Amino acid sequence: MKYDKEINKRKTFAIISHPDAGKTTLTEKFLLFGGAIQTAGAVKSNKIKKGATSDFMEIERQRGISVATSVMSFEYKDFLINLLDTPGHKDFAEDTYRTLTAVDSVVLVIDSVNGVEDQTRRLVEVCRMRKTPVIVFINKMDRDGKNRFDLLEEIEAELKLNLHPMTWPINSGKDFKGVYNLRNKSLRLFAANTKADDEDLVEIENLSDHTLEQKVGEADANILREDVELIDGVYGDLDEKAYLDGDIAPVFFGSAINNFGINEMLDTFIEIAPGPLPRETTAREVFPNEEKLSGFVFKIHANLDPKHRDRIAFLRICSGVFERNKYYHHVRLDKNLRFSTPYTFLARSKDIVENAYPGDVVGLFDTGNFKIGDTLTEGEDFYYTGIPSFSPEIFKELVNKDPMKTKQMEKGVNQLTDEGVAQLFTQFGGNKKIIGCVGELQFEVIQYRLLHEYGASVEFRTLPFFKACWLTSKDNKKLEEFLRFKQANSGEDKDGLPVYLAQSQWFLDTEISNNPDIQFHFTSEIH
Ligand code: G4P
Repeated sequence: MKYDKEINKRKTFAIISHPDAGKTTLTEKFLLFGGAIQTAGAVKSNKIKKGATSDFMEIERQRGISVATSVMSFEYKDFLINLLDTPGHKDFAEDTYRTLTAVDSVVLVIDSVNGVEDQTRRLVEVCRMRKTPVIVFINKMDRDGKNRFDLLEEIEAELKLNLHPMTWPINSGKDFKGVYNLRNKSLRLFAANTKADDEDLVEIENLSDHTLEQKVGEADANILREDVELIDGVYGDLDEKAYLDGDIAPVFFGSAINNFGINEMLDTFIEIAPGPLPRETTAREVFPNEEKLSGFVFKIHANLDPKHRDRIAFLRICSGVFERNKYYHHVRLDKNLRFSTPYTFLARSKDIVENAYPGDVVGLFDTGNFKIGDTLTEGEDFYYTGIPSFSPEIFKELVNKDPMKTKQMEKGVNQLTDEGVAQLFTQFGGNKKIIGCVGELQFEVIQYRLLHEYGASVEFRTLPFFKACWLTSKDNKKLEEFLRFKQANSGEDKDGLPVYLAQSQWFLDTEISNNPDIQFHFTSEIH
């Protein structure tokens, strides 16, 4: 196909980590190496600092930054790399999970001092479900961390990942001397706070070479020799297919803040990481090199300027070529749309693009046409599958404090739920509007945004529900009967689908066993 060259040079991945492991720092270093930015400090952290949960300005800042850093594209050697950022904060985990549907591989950052942390576990679980290839970067080797063998063991056991070391560190903390590249057999010596350039690189054909002693001293030279012998014996060469299948994760050691160990990872990344992969749809598997365009929206972001209600929908291109001003088929709305100002994110500036290719993410200005999971095609009717919609864990009644602004409030709630910030349910008995979220912080975001963007003043009243389950049944009568009897605990979601709101696990288990003809679904896929 005539666009093979464009497709083959693209690699689209996400960086994931528990907050504070060094995701922002590593992202910045990637962009520096890729020449996309010239100075450190240009990438702003999109994390919400601990304890700032009630600080609206912080939320606002976070929103602004996460638009700017949602997608960053840079060139490295002959490749065009699309890096998708993910929020580390657990209250925004849904956003991260959806972003993972739009990438072909993942780099997982682990703090060598803290090892495996909560968010890491959940994120890796999602990668495993999707069989996403993972590369692990063990960061902060300049700090006194855990013993490297213990750390590998911990990661393997806790994350149920099979690891394969690609570089090997000489000590850590103040004794950190560098990393040995097991793949091309060279040693990169560590010098704190300097740019890791090639002068630090020592080629070592044979580890018994005395240059090693000269560079790192006799004791460390001997330890390295023993370690490498052990590792070679246990791991051998990397099984690239196992990596691509998500069964083995190559591991690199480094220190992002010191630019250290990153080149080694990037060089291997461009060699082994998958390019744009085929993806499943409701109709068939779609391949990137097909002639016709298709893609799906995995993220929607409100515009930064609250006076303008338009939003940016992030479209992952899965096949064909996206062209500016060409009409595409919006499957859900059965409507043809064209985009005069699609953006890409090369070099961190938003540029209008004429063409974009599979693997790319384009930002589309949207005045309310898109929902997460929407698919664009050139006429074919299908949806991309596997985009998760989450079962909320916290439920609150939405109380309108200003009846004069009811319309604005409804519009706002509609738009925010389209963005995937929260889910809206309408209770059958009482007609209450119930907002369901995964994290407490999202309620604050909603309250703040309804007021500032829509002029609607609301408050929330906590409700005693703990889970929403979508209901289906082959027997419509039984379902209707159930909903009638359980009015206080049931309602419909925004699309009119029936939902049961359970007060506790006990109630849920009881209803499930009392109603064998009704299916209770927990994490519904959007498609
Ligand atoms: P995140 O996006 O994963 O949340 O982490 P981020 O990059 O913001 O890094 C968290 C903290 O860890 C930052 O310090 C950062 O400077 C530090 N850090 C990142 N990489 C390394 C490393 O290789 N070695 C060491 N020693 N520290 C590292 P902070 O004090 O929380 O923030 P800041 O005030 O420096 O921005």
